[in-house]
Amino acid sequence: MNTAHSPKLDAIDTPAALIDVERMQRNIARMQTRMDELGVRFRPHVKTTKCVDVVRAQIAAGAQGITVSTLKEAEAFFAAGIGDILYAVGITPSKLPRALALRQRGCDLKLILDNAAAANAVVEFGKVHGHAFEVWLEVDTDGHRSGLAPGHDALIEVGRTLQDGGVEVGGVMTHAGSSYELHDVEALAALAEQERAGCVLAAERLRAAGVVCKTVSVGSTPTALHARELPGVDEVRAGVYVFFDLVMRNVGVCGTNDIALSVLASVIGHQPDKGWVIVDAGWMALSRDRGTAKQSHDFGYGLVCALDGTPIAGAAFVGANQEHGIVAIEPHDADALATRFPLGMKLRILPNHACATGAQFPEYYAVMPEGHVAVWSRFHGW
Ligand SMILES: Cc1ncc(COP(=O)(O)O)c(C=O)c1O
Repeated sequence: MNTAHSPKLDAIDTPAALIDVERMQRNIARMQTRMDELGVRFRPHVKTTKCVDVVRAQIAAGAQGITVSTLKEAEAFFAAGIGDILYAVGITPSKLPRALALRQRGCDLKLILDNAAAANAVVEFGKVHGHAFEVWLEVDTDGHRSGLAPGHDALIEVGRTLQDGGVEVGGVMTHAGSSYELHDVEALAALAEQERAGCVLAAERLRAAGVVCKTVSVGSTPTALHARELPGVDEVRAGVYVFFDLVMRNVGVCGTNDIALSVLASVIGHQPDKGWVIVDAGWMALSRDRGTAKQSHDFGYGLVCALDGTPIAGAAFVGANQEHGIVAIEPHDADALATRFPLGMKLRILPNHACATGAQFPEYYAVMPEGHVAVWSRFHGW
């Protein structure tokens, strides 16, 4: 929420998480436009930001419903007035009372699962409490994580268990997370098609077996932006696109000047002989995420930029302790290091993984296009 205004970026204490609102709005518009062109609904994954202000901007641009990764997000966004929520992490029996409480308060909460044990648990719990849950079946279309195989009999068996037990099978959903390992346009388009085809196949098989399955839901940021057509798909989900990050830059779906999240840091010292500038943002601020380490360009702990967001040539974020960051300057002039990067100088660090870096902070400083700064809170925990 906009709880405070700070007139100057330079006055914010460090480390702090900044949102470049102009870039964020551009990213939101880009994704929504693409979804409109593809003729599908868009359900953003809000785990990236966990921030009501950001999600309101996504909904204002045309998003319909949200995806969450925790029940805490579901509770917080429902309290903020958003009712259509897909909880996209497999349900466990211990979480069913909280899910039920949300639904009884009027939240259109949809659960997911990918196995018979979970299906039986939802059926039994629903019977005991006289409640018909809505469940979407998670489908595995790229082998990277969870989900039922689209062509396997288990998919039909789980669907029937739910439907026969009084649970609404509202849809099928998949997330081709292996897209993060790619960086080639054709390979990304092929994976988007694989994601689409697998999920549509699952829906068709369920329907042919008499299981009502309204919605087909697919998506990750790279596949959403590379899908050429989406016949049979009703909605797409994507999360990290709203901020983008260096991992997405290496995948090839954004440039560094699209990255809307950065960590504001201050210079706290120098090691002139080594060419090091020490800053007050370590892994506690940037996170331990080294997602770019195995990609085409390893950005260390982040891309070092000046306060205006321009990358500083020759500066590499090579090390991170809890509250210390080590920025190596190449080539360096030992005598001039402290003059070039004086004590207290503010730097902006673009993150490897926006979801992980954002999660280190209790709030964002949203830098508006006109230059003023608002404080937007974000949720934590489960
Ligand atoms: C189930 C599910 N859907 C959608 C997404 C969004 O993916 P991305 O952040 O690549 O847009 C995720 C991300 O982890 C996810 O787990």
